[in-house]
Amino acid sequence: MPITFRTAEESDWAAICYADGRGFGFAYTPEQVERARPIHDVSRFELAFDGKEIVAIVGAYSLNVTVPGGGQLPMGGLTWVSTAATHRRQGLLTRLMARSIDDIDRRGEPVAMLGASEGGIYERFGFGVATQVRGTAIDRRLVQLRPEFQPRRGTVRFVNGDDALRHVGEVWSRFHRLRAGEVDRSDAWHRFLLEQRASPQGTMSSSFYLAHRDGFAVYRIEEQWNEGRPAHNLRVLELVAITSDAHAALWHTLLGIDLVGVITSRLVPIDDPLPYLLTDPRALQTTALYDGVWVNVRDVAACMSARRYGVADRMVVDVDGERWAIEGGPDGAACRRVRTRPDLVTDRASLGSLLLGGVRPSALAAGRRLDARNRDALRRADAFFLTSPVPHCQTMY
Ligand SMILES: CC(C)(COP(=O)(O)OP(=O)(O)OC[C@H]1O[C@@H](n2cnc3c(N)ncnc32)[C@H](O)[C@@H]1OP(=O)(O)O)[C@@H](O)C(=O)NCCC(=O)NCCS
Repeated sequence: MPITFRTAEESDWAAICYADGRGFGFAYTPEQVERARPIHDVSRFELAFDGKEIVAIVGAYSLNVTVPGGGQLPMGGLTWVSTAATHRRQGLLTRLMARSIDDIDRRGEPVAMLGASEGGIYERFGFGVATQVRGTAIDRRLVQLRPEFQPRRGTVRFVNGDDALRHVGEVWSRFHRLRAGEVDRSDAWHRFLLEQRASPQGTMSSSFYLAHRDGFAVYRIEEQWNEGRPAHNLRVLELVAITSDAHAALWHTLLGIDLVGVITSRLVPIDDPLPYLLTDPRALQTTALYDGVWVNVRDVAACMSARRYGVADRMVVDVDGERWAIEGGPDGAACRRVRTRPDLVTDRASLGSLLLGGVRPSALAAGRRLDARNRDALRRADAFFLTSPVPHCQTMY
């Protein structure tokens, strides 16, 4: 039977969920099918069919991503990507990716982004790694916050249900533009997360929400009683802090949870100040470090003029044969097509790595992803593109 392709319709939703679960190795319950519906726009799902059966999917969210300097870009966040095991390596992802990227271009979104299940899939489609995910572990029995950072009592409290939802939404609206790479989240998105986290996951408990005036933390616990030597595992699902007081107070609370042994997380940014707050900085161990979000720059001028740069300069970048002059600095930027000799020569995927300011041009050059006119151009490029704080995204999409 020939494979056919089309954009999804409302009536496809349950079958999309079934095919998505099968692609990733689980099965949606009817409640999960219903719960996921409000945050997904079926008109952004591209499907491949063998007869009546869905055999491949590429979905997308309509999001806005923060760029260096605090500006935002409309972004197509690709998601729910899978091909049935019976139809893999026949070009179905390639076909659906092209349809989805065409749709992103039609909608006028200057950038596409995604988080990858495996590192070998997406560079061929023009995506470059722009942020990192760090796995961390702290044995709380061995460490505390240094006394000078310990907060006043009563700055952190537990919240539930609608109170948690209101608090998280309010904090998120102030937080998500503070770090490049982060995205906006709708109220429906926060509600979806809250409802999803209300159920236990595997051996982990349902989640607990801690609130500070300028932050929140969400965690689950896995009980480990160990015959009278309790050492529960605590998994931090989110920790959002707008101020350093909120950061210290939330970590102080987490480190003080009795019966817990090790606290793990996958979202502590690489430049997080936590080690400086601890009685032993080595206690924050990095257990994994890998690619976070992948960026595909669709509209070079829109993307490169939306962000701010580390120093005032003008760099001409050749991207797949088109030359772009980026004139920018800490206060503003412009980008336009030119014919002049380039300072840097690269491709779309590597430009994606540069967009959020977390990847050194000199590292891309050493990795044969970028050529510089000379050493001075590379030194200028490092100073120009890098940003602080390091870009990071703790929203899973
Ligand atoms: C990843 C996945 C969607 C690929 O789908 P597919 O329809 O087999 O992909 P295509 O046939 O279009 O492959 C396109 C190219 O990517 C390569 N490729 C595909 N999957 C790859 C992988 N996991 N690792 C490395 N290369 C991969 C193919 O070899 C092919 O290369 P070629 O053009 O040089 O021949 C599919 O393997 C899958 O469903 N995996 C499980 C779910 C998953 O991980 N989804 C991704 C979530 S981010």
